[in-house]
Amino acid sequence: MAENEVIETEEQQEFDPTMCDEICAKYQDWPGATIPVLQETQDAYGYLFPELVERIADDMNMSPHQIYGVITFYAQFYTKPRGKYIIRVCRGTACHVQGSGRISEIVKEEFGIGDGETTADVKFTLEEVSCIGACGMSPVIMINNSTYGNLKPEDARKIFKDYASLPDEG
Ligand code: FES
Repeated sequence: MAENEVIETEEQQEFDPTMCDEICAKYQDWPGATIPVLQETQDAYGYLFPELVERIADDMNMSPHQIYGVITFYAQFYTKPRGKYIIRVCRGTACHVQGSGRISEIVKEEFGIGDGETTADVKFTLEEVSCIGACGMSPVIMINNSTYGNLKPEDARKIFKDYASLPDEG
């Protein structure tokens, strides 16, 4: 499977601007509303793809350039699809010393993705992060809001396989 290919999602193929228009209408007379508008549209559509950004700009009487200025400034905004499951592998010093590099390699082996990449089925995204504040249980990973510590490579592989076998719905 070519996991790293450019991903065209349904959002891009069948963009329905209704939710975007409704969100923008709520904030129409609120100066400086760009951040809540982007947060809500991202929540609604998953990520901020070009057609959506243009529509937001239109609705908010701004230029796409201004919108992208905000998007690129804040780490909370995404212009690429992100997986249903976000695997965060801590690469801080304590975790690094305890072998977190091997865990990133296992993600690559299991899903074919590197740091910042998403599988073609949009199920998994890998994010290597700095210390997540649980150094006492290094090496540590998070998958969405669940934390897994003191991970041996075989434990990590089992956890990844368990997530991979979860059904797509829900
Ligand atoms: S270095 Fe990984 S939790 Fe602190």
